[in-house]
Amino acid sequence: MKKMVVLSGAGMSAESGVSTFRGAGGLWDKYPVEEVATPQGYAANPELVINFYNERRRQLLDVEPNKGHKLIAELEKEFNVTVVTQNIDNLHERAGSSKVIHLHGELTKVCSSRAPHDPRYIKKLSPEEYEIKIGDLAPDGSQYRPYIVWFGEAVPKIEEAIQYVEQADIFLIIGTSMNVYPAAGLLNYVSSRIPVYLIDPNEVNVNSNGHKIHVIRKVASEGMEELMKLLSEKEKA
Ligand code: OAD
Repeated sequence: MKKMVVLSGAGMSAESGVSTFRGAGGLWDKYPVEEVATPQGYAANPELVINFYNERRRQLLDVEPNKGHKLIAELEKEFNVTVVTQNIDNLHERAGSSKVIHLHGELTKVCSSRAPHDPRYIKKLSPEEYEIKIGDLAPDGSQYRPYIVWFGEAVPKIEEAIQYVEQADIFLIIGTSMNVYPAAGLLNYVSSRIPVYLIDPNEVNVNSNGHKIHVIRKVASEGMEELMKLLSEKEKA
């Protein structure tokens, strides 16, 4: 089976009703990014940050995977698929994707404030536990914080992602403005011999690095429908 890597971003979940970050009406318009998504913001006002992510986590209970997520899961019938997502929601998993690498963390988990990536203190929350409060402590005695990679923090999962990207036979970029590194830099690890597709309804400025990118200028669901057709025609050819 050919290996396919999908790099997804906030636009992937837009049709499910989850806000994107940049652009008019994006989350960073409503909430200053330095207050809610940096270690400094968390140090200054942990309650505000914990509540911001409580709200995002609650939203998971009201949203469903969209057609785009489902078609990505369906690709597993034909390809060995690894999803590398910048999203912190769980919609890829809920749509049925079996291998998902979350570069920026996961809303459904909390971790130690002192050692965020120490696996001993990463806890998966059941929906009854979605509301984290000040005073909820990790086993190391520190406050449980959202298991989210904030700006200025290391992205440890990037190493694993790079390994999959280097081995990929097909690369798909979907619903990301390619503004945030190191995620956007993954394209540099894609072999120049393989096909690269990009699905986004808006123009995305990618540093294509010599890659010829097949752009499908559509929303995730419609773009995925078109991609499935293209791929099945290719397989038949
Ligand atoms: P952005 O909000 O920067 O970009 C979203 C992209 O989705 C844009 O290119 C939109 O054109 C596109 N888009 C909008 N609606 C769409 C739809 N229905 N279907 C497909 N695409 C659509 O989000 P990301 O690139 O994911 O990090 O942002 C990357 C990171 O920056 C996030 O993970 C987050 C953020 O700050 C952290 O919180 C650390």
